[in-house]
Amino acid sequence: MKKQSEDIISLKNINKIFPLEVGGEQQVLFDINFSVKAGEFVAIMGPSGSGKSTCMNIIGALDTPTSGTYELYGRDVTGLTPDELATVRNEHIGFVFQQFNLLPKRSVLDNVMLPLMYRGLPMQERVQRAREMLQRVGLENFESYLPTQLSGGMKQRVAIARALAGNPKLILADEPTGALDSKMGNEILKFFKQLNHDLGITIVMITHEFDIAKYADRLIHIRDGKINYDGRVPRDDRNL
Ligand SMILES: Nc1ncnc2c1ncn2[C@@H]1O[C@H](COP(=O)(O)OP(=O)(O)OP(=O)(O)O)[C@@H](O)[C@H]1O
Ligand SMILES: [Mg+2]
Repeated sequence: MKKQSEDIISLKNINKIFPLEVGGEQQVLFDINFSVKAGEFVAIMGPSGSGKSTCMNIIGALDTPTSGTYELYGRDVTGLTPDELATVRNEHIGFVFQQFNLLPKRSVLDNVMLPLMYRGLPMQERVQRAREMLQRVGLENFESYLPTQLSGGMKQRVAIARALAGNPKLILADEPTGALDSKMGNEILKFFKQLNHDLGITIVMITHEFDIAKYADRLIHIRDGKINYDGRVPRDDRNL
């Protein structure tokens, strides 16, 4: 993929309109413009229903906008086919979700190896890489466990190991601490901070809580599908 700018992601005049089942349509994103440079840690914050996940799905190449352009590593991905989008996702993005999205009947090791399935790596290398990732999240002794045998925080660590396995430069996390108590949540957030700081991994994290957004360096606040703040994380959320 040819790199044309140092922006990892760039959204230009993004609009998203969903058709409604009852007829008519609903516009959820209105002229969204922002870009993220390599190495940033950005929180996208906003109330429930403001369009955060819709925005994240576009950034993650899980969905396409109704209009506007979305560039990932300087390449316009708006017009790609679903298969092409899947390749882009697999090669460039590590996903972390609120509900972990682990395969419940597969071992921890299998789950972490998943993104490597399409890479054409020999089995032994896949196993080795997955073990390294489990070590990085402190779960090297749990590789043969099933996700159901782990605590929420541990499950999210497995999900992070899986996100890291494909060696992405970008991690997209949608409410990554939403299913965790605050202690486990803080551990996960500290871990993100470390990944960003030590490995230079770009992180875009969605949250509806200011206390969580504070872990990021930059805050993009969305209200009713429009950006109403984009800048350094303010000291408090009074003016958001
Ligand atoms: N596939 C869809 N079809 C129709 N409407 C949708 C679809 N996905 C989302 N919406 C609508 O878009 C709006 C924004 O939803 P979105 O999931 O992006 O909000 P959110 O900010 O992530 O909220 P939450 O904090 O509750 O997760 C909502 O009104 C929702 O009903
Ligand atoms: Mg959401």
